[in-house]
Amino acid sequence: MAKSKQLARMTKEEGHEGVVKVSVLGKDSIILGRNMHSYIWDDLLNNLAYSTTFVLITDSNLQRLHMKKYVETFNQAIEAKYGKTGDQGASTAGSGSVERPRLLTLVIKPGESSKNRSTKAELEDWMLKEGCTRDTVVMALGGGVIGDLVGFVAATFMRGVRFIQLPTSLLAMVDSSVGGKTAIDTDHGKNLIGSFWQPERVYMDMAVLTTLPEREFANGMAEVIKSAAIWSMEEFEVLERSRENIRRALKGGDKEGKSESEKEDQELLLRVVSSSVRMKAHVVTVDERESGLRGLLNFGHTLGHALEAIVTPYMLHGECVSIGCVLEAELSHRLGYMNANSVGRLAKCFKQYELPISYEEAYVSKMVPPQVLKRVTLENMMNTMKVDKKNVGNKKRVVLLSEIGDTVEEQASRVEDDVVREVLAKSVEVFGIESTEQLQKRQGVGKGGDEDSAVVIIPPGSKSISNRALILAALGKGKCKIHNMLHSDDTQVMLDALVAMGACKVSWEQEEAEDQQTEEVLVIEGGGGEGLVVPDRELYLGNAGTAARFLTTFVNLIVTEQEKTTVLTGNSRMKERPIGALVDALRSNGCEIEYQEKKGSLPLKVRNSTKGLPGGKVELSASISSQYVSSLLMCAPYAQQEIELELVGDQVISQSYIDMTIAMMSAFGVNVEKLGDKNTHRYRIPKSSYTNPAEYRVESDASSATYPLALAAITGTKCTIPNIGSGSLQGDAKFAVDVLRPMGCDVVQTKNSTTVQGPALGGLKPLPMIDMEPMTDAFLTATALAAVATAGKEGTESITKIRGIANQHVKECDRIVALSTELAKLGIKTEVDPDGIDVKGISLDELNDKAREKQRNETSVVIHCYDDHRVAMSLSVLASVVRPGLVFDERRCVGKTWPQWWTALTTKYKICIRGCDIPTSSSSSAPELTAAAATEVKTSDKKEIEKKTDSILIIGMRGVGKSTLGLEMANVLGYNFIDMDTYLEEQHKKTIPEIIADDGWDGFRTAEAKCLATVLSNKDTNKNTVISCGGGLLENKLSSELVMAWKNVGNFVLHLYADINQVSEYLGRDKTRPAYKLGESPQEVFARRLADYKRHSTHTLYVHSEPEFGWGQMVDDAVRMIQFVTAGTNVIQNLSSLQRSFFVSLTCADVCEYTKEQIGDITAGCNAVELRVDLLLNDSRFSANKDSAGKDLLGSEQQVEDFELYVLQQVAALRRRTSLPIVYTVRSKSQGGNFPNNQQLIERLLIRGVEFGCEYIDVEMGGYDSETPADCSLLISVSTTTRKSAYYKHSQILASYHDPTGLNLRWTITTGSALDHLKSYLWHINKYADIGKLVSFAWDWDDNLRAVIFANKLRTSAANKPLIVINMSYVGQFSRILCPLLTPVTHPSIKTPAAPGQLSVAQIHHTLHTMGALPSKRFYLFGDPISKSPSPAMHNAAFEYLGLPHNYSLYPVNLGELDAQKLKEFAGKVLRGCNGGTGSGGENKVNCGYVFGGASVTIPNKQSIIPLLDELTDAAKAIGAVNTIIPIIRTRLPSTSDSKCSYNVPHSAHAAPLYIDRNLLKMVGDNTDYLGMISCIKNANSLLSTPLSLNTVGTNNSLSALVIGAGGTSRAAIYALHKLNVANIYLYNRTLENAEKLASSIDFTHVTVLSSLSDPQLLPAHPFGIIISTIPAPSQSTVDSSDYPSHLFSRSASQTAGSNNQSSNEGIVLDMAYTAGSTLTPLLTHVQTSHPSWKLITGLQVLIAQGVEQFKLWNGPECAPPVRQMTEAVYAFNSLSLQK
Ligand SMILES: NC(=O)c1ccc[n+]([C@@H]2O[C@H](COP(=O)([O-])OP(=O)(O)OC[C@H]3O[C@@H](n4cnc5c(N)ncnc54)[C@H](O)[C@@H]3O)[C@@H](O)[C@H]2O)c1
Repeated sequence: MAKSKQLARMTKEEGHEGVVKVSVLGKDSIILGRNMHSYIWDDLLNNLAYSTTFVLITDSNLQRLHMKKYVETFNQAIEAKYGKTGDQGASTAGSGSVERPRLLTLVIKPGESSKNRSTKAELEDWMLKEGCTRDTVVMALGGGVIGDLVGFVAATFMRGVRFIQLPTSLLAMVDSSVGGKTAIDTDHGKNLIGSFWQPERVYMDMAVLTTLPEREFANGMAEVIKSAAIWSMEEFEVLERSRENIRRALKGGDKEGKSESEKEDQELLLRVVSSSVRMKAHVVTVDERESGLRGLLNFGHTLGHALEAIVTPYMLHGECVSIGCVLEAELSHRLGYMNANSVGRLAKCFKQYELPISYEEAYVSKMVPPQVLKRVTLENMMNTMKVDKKNVGNKKRVVLLSEIGDTVEEQASRVEDDVVREVLAKSVEVFGIESTEQLQKRQGVGKGGDEDSAVVIIPPGSKSISNRALILAALGKGKCKIHNMLHSDDTQVMLDALVAMGACKVSWEQEEAEDQQTEEVLVIEGGGGEGLVVPDRELYLGNAGTAARFLTTFVNLIVTEQEKTTVLTGNSRMKERPIGALVDALRSNGCEIEYQEKKGSLPLKVRNSTKGLPGGKVELSASISSQYVSSLLMCAPYAQQEIELELVGDQVISQSYIDMTIAMMSAFGVNVEKLGDKNTHRYRIPKSSYTNPAEYRVESDASSATYPLALAAITGTKCTIPNIGSGSLQGDAKFAVDVLRPMGCDVVQTKNSTTVQGPALGGLKPLPMIDMEPMTDAFLTATALAAVATAGKEGTESITKIRGIANQHVKECDRIVALSTELAKLGIKTEVDPDGIDVKGISLDELNDKAREKQRNETSVVIHCYDDHRVAMSLSVLASVVRPGLVFDERRCVGKTWPQWWTALTTKYKICIRGCDIPTSSSSSAPELTAAAATEVKTSDKKEIEKKTDSILIIGMRGVGKSTLGLEMANVLGYNFIDMDTYLEEQHKKTIPEIIADDGWDGFRTAEAKCLATVLSNKDTNKNTVISCGGGLLENKLSSELVMAWKNVGNFVLHLYADINQVSEYLGRDKTRPAYKLGESPQEVFARRLADYKRHSTHTLYVHSEPEFGWGQMVDDAVRMIQFVTAGTNVIQNLSSLQRSFFVSLTCADVCEYTKEQIGDITAGCNAVELRVDLLLNDSRFSANKDSAGKDLLGSEQQVEDFELYVLQQVAALRRRTSLPIVYTVRSKSQGGNFPNNQQLIERLLIRGVEFGCEYIDVEMGGYDSETPADCSLLISVSTTTRKSAYYKHSQILASYHDPTGLNLRWTITTGSALDHLKSYLWHINKYADIGKLVSFAWDWDDNLRAVIFANKLRTSAANKPLIVINMSYVGQFSRILCPLLTPVTHPSIKTPAAPGQLSVAQIHHTLHTMGALPSKRFYLFGDPISKSPSPAMHNAAFEYLGLPHNYSLYPVNLGELDAQKLKEFAGKVLRGCNGGTGSGGENKVNCGYVFGGASVTIPNKQSIIPLLDELTDAAKAIGAVNTIIPIIRTRLPSTSDSKCSYNVPHSAHAAPLYIDRNLLKMVGDNTDYLGMISCIKNANSLLSTPLSLNTVGTNNSLSALVIGAGGTSRAAIYALHKLNVANIYLYNRTLENAEKLASSIDFTHVTVLSSLSDPQLLPAHPFGIIISTIPAPSQSTVDSSDYPSHLFSRSASQTAGSNNQSSNEGIVLDMAYTAGSTLTPLLTHVQTSHPSWKLITGLQVLIAQGVEQFKLWNGPECAPPVRQMTEAVYAFNSLSLQK
């Protein structure tokens, strides 16, 4: 029965449909509903005591998504209550003379990092400044972070003001907003400072959950499931069956549900949230201050926290809690409280909601970087738990479950550490028994004269029988209790499918089982084959083969009046598995079944009609699977006519399973009649109906039963399996009689049970030859026993030969070889045969001696499990007699058939086990290479390394990502990739552990050095190659020399830096680390190696990424850096020819203060971003080192190193926030900066900037005292270092001199030493730098003009380097406006500008325009119809943000319809008119103050415009269409008569900034559609967990893409894919002819035309990574999901970057069609629901991205466009036009 405890009271709010109130602490203060903004304000303004001020605080995510609505509805509510503003009469009407309440809003940075003291102080200061008083109502709109922080502000502001929670994340709703806990974090830990402060109201709006990212939703679900698990079985059952409804409710957006089912889904979401809230509210009410009951909420948290402490911030709290709950449930089972089935159910429920259930899952390794994951060890987790103050001695406090919905105690229970270790560990050590007696004593048998008592074990149910029982009971009439049902993925999908078809009702009951534990019994109420319905969704069967086969016949039983279809589908593996013979048989019987993808496999589309399963004579080929036969047999009674089934073909396989089916059908009341003689296979199945027996006991799995029976055999004890006997139809049921008895056991088998008594310890006999063909899975158990079967053979060889098991070579692993390998570790010899294995048994004494000897050398013998449950379980039987103990490395692999095996082994069989970590090998601290070994490597190897190649060697600690990033770099550069570890293993044909085992550490290091020498000196491998090296490589002297030699000739050596100390500190961990061999911690190893890494490398890249940036971003950053250092990309091209260029100076002490978006705002309009390294010293960790005079700053070497590391991290943080080049500046105090005047230190830091891959390095000229003003030695030194090293040659040197006094640098100086100094600076700039920068101080305004004149003079000579000339001070501002080249600028959101007088880009543009130096440009959109186009909004937003005086407007025109005269006018007046120039009718409009800036071109003009243009870009030519027009202007140098053409830039930096020549040279047509697609695809790619190998050059690329549609946009799409280096491009169009026409017209790449998408046979072998649809919006209505079969969406492993062995179902789908608003197209909607791991790109996103590209073309390609402003404008425009 579903059990539940009390929940808080819930009431409906009268008069407000859908609004409910939950009571907490005696008040109905929690209010739930949908879209209840107006309700909220109404409630607050009318029911809460009056307040003058409402303060709404939120984070920027919520601001973007939800805040506006709150502000709007506030205003409406205020207007309704107080009248319009200014309306005197109204404002007082009805409310006396009270002041109109105001709403203040404040937005802070999202994420945990905001929950700190300083943000709290900022909020408070702001509220004080705004005049908030005690009557203020503070409102928190956001997740738990906002709630906790803002709640704490409310609690302390003016000693506490009223507080309102508006939780927006699921976690915040069900957890943090209820209960009144508020807090902030400090460096010492999370939530350490805070208070209890109950909110007046908590409003939970379900509609906001629809925007919550999926991962955050799952995060909250963990708490919801957790609560149900401790509180209410009923709620748990709701969760178990509601996944799909909830998914739909969330996908449906914030609109009210229209259809019944939509409404139901939304109600269900509300129910799930409200129940969880009610539970928490109840607990809080009973125990507000957490003294007892509230502790129950910590279920899953004790063990979850142990993990979380290590993997924060890579995994979310809820994800860790999910894993913690499953572990704690296992613990409850281990302690005998909860049954194994319930643990399974709980785990499945978490899994359904996309939560991880084990820290060994692939998901966890995907999220957590390898170097952190490595630290997830048992010891580390146990240590974390140690510090919990609730521990008592060697016990931990854990909430234990007695069953789902109930706990063992009303509080957390105390659990012994050893038991916790057992469930927590990855590995398990099994200890052998000393004697049979000792074991029996523990088992409690043989006591009290009960010699016969045996250990009774019921292994999990058989999968075959469970699945059959489900089908039969579902089709049967009446209730059937099924005992011992196997809980597996197979049975789960089967149950789900049966319920979805309305076949039966399902529930669970608890009963006591034969082995005296409670058992969860499945109760099926069968529908008797009636009322079957077509399910409302595809039946997804994962990889459950049995379910797929049984259901293929079953779905045909559905009879419907109207024709409908049922789809059976599965995962990619399932889609390879055969089903053809069964489908053929059903089809020939009249069933209508279609293959949706590959012929002969799932997915299947079955047409349901009135026909049902026709019946009659059916022929079936049964040579592939007996499950086909069983499928037909079981459904046959429900056919329309009686079935006579004949099995045809060569042979019938696995007859025993067919017999099993027939026997089970008979148990359910239907008897199959066998026809004909023994040799025919014909059966008659009467038309009938099953009658359910009241109870059905699923026999245990006979293969599993072999393990406990073998335990009895090997330990000399007795074991009974009460539900498998001679009557069993399972082949392995014969194991006891056919194998154990001949080996010397007493076996008693009844029809239903088996008991085995083993011989005395060591008394097992070998079997000369045994054919195990009838029970192949049991061979592993037999082999384990044979290893010690020597009785009777003393003095001779004891060989057991096992045959008939060839299939075991190809199971989960090659089981025969696996056992042979593992037994060899114990000194047991075997011979592997194609059909079996020979095992040479050894005595127990010999076995123990060998194991002990091995242990002496290695600490423990580790058995590798090959992720194969049977390998683990069979060898654990052997381990029961190996006394020193055997470690099994993958404890959880038994989950496939017997998840609780280890628990059974210890709690039932009483074999001792212990959870443990795998003993770590000492690879990281290998001893130095001995002299003798070193000489083995020929010194001549080194000589071969003689010249520079372009290869890159990667070094760094193990696990930092050398191979992954290395491979990615190789792909992009078109290089080869060598992983030295793999290379070494291939050369030696051994694994590294084997090499170490055979040759010792010295030998391994020598071998490694030799391989390195070979690779580095071999002309084939040392060119154009990325080489990733082993972590300990440099500890070897010779390897170190090789790397140094390699670097010294100018090659790249990249150090991937993952700062171990920082990681561990960040995680708040203590100093206990997994032991390295010489007792060193990883920190010590790293500390020891760090100097070597630094010394050997040319560049350093920081790998530790911030949690909000994914691995894809890390890959992008690595590629960007490597492309810069190797090829000089990412520096500003043609700097001198740019009209204007800016760099923005960041003055913060920590770049991470800004989000990527904020940096986007700050850098918009700029060409580079300056990192002021000297200002980083203001970070508290360094500024604290300062004495009052600032002297001791960076006083010690350690401080300098710490600072260097910080700078490295800052460079990385900045790089991932912007793609602009970085100007790296260390400004000294003497030049107006913050860095001590210490040339040596500055030089050292500058070189670091070069090593860190910064594009521009600012190097100061001028000495640090007045005596050496013209000392340029720093510049000479830095410049020489960078230029002499081939690997640094791309670094740009910006030589600068700043005179903050204005006395040394005067622009008009003509004589004296000052002139000499100036000349000296200029000379040094020209000789040693790439750019110069001279900054003086303006005393009067004329100094600005003097600066311009000075600069212009210099600029007239092209021999001079580009020069920045400006003045500091307010008076000097004007010089910044006049300086055209790399003007340093600031931004309004930068608190302190870097220098006095710095202006923003917008300010400069405004002034230039006012001065007449920046004419307004006109931009147009040519097309028809275009009234709905968001382009004007988008471009004008960009212009406005940057202060540009330009305007973009619509120009409706259909060129095709214009006659020749009109066309000519258009070309002349519109295109060229305002630029003067060549067009007829041209009129120079410069003097009118505006010019033609460019245009976008859309349908129908994309082709008809071409004849009016002078030139097309390659892209426009290839695509055959123009969407962008760029006028190219002639520029003229003022002092010469040279004409110089540049790309849309009116004058060069060399030209006088105020001089503008308006001579149009030509009109160029380009196409940015493809650029928009490329940019969106790249963005989406960086979000994939396994990114596609985009841009991969050459043969590495195996990426495939599909373009749907054959119009002009398809051409652009193909061009985009071609530019992304996609190797295989496919094209599909409904009208094949058009696709063929398009393909044949494309000459830049090869395109393969597909005639159909529905037949998987016709599709390429490589599935698609990218799919682009170009079907226009109007035709979209004809598209439905069947046009996109799911085989289009599964991607093979080889196309993903960096992973060679992981298959991935991710990809990118782009639909170019867009409609106003953001609704998804049918294709995108389809993909979103059926392939949620695919990333979607909407047409609107591409529209924005291509607009951004246009912006670059018109405004200079090198400056950063204001992307956020453009995006927001488009979205705003769209919602506007939607409302109209
Ligand atoms: N006070 C308590 O009793 C209590 C209990 C549990 C957790 N907590 C605290 O809660 C915090 C975690 O809360 P959280 O998980 O909500 O984190 P969060 O507040 O950081 O929110 C997670 C992310 O989701 C975004 N987001 C929230 N709602 C959204 C929506 N509707 N649409 C789109 N994006 C949305 C947020 O901007 C943020 O980026 C932690 O600081 C934790 O200590 C407190």
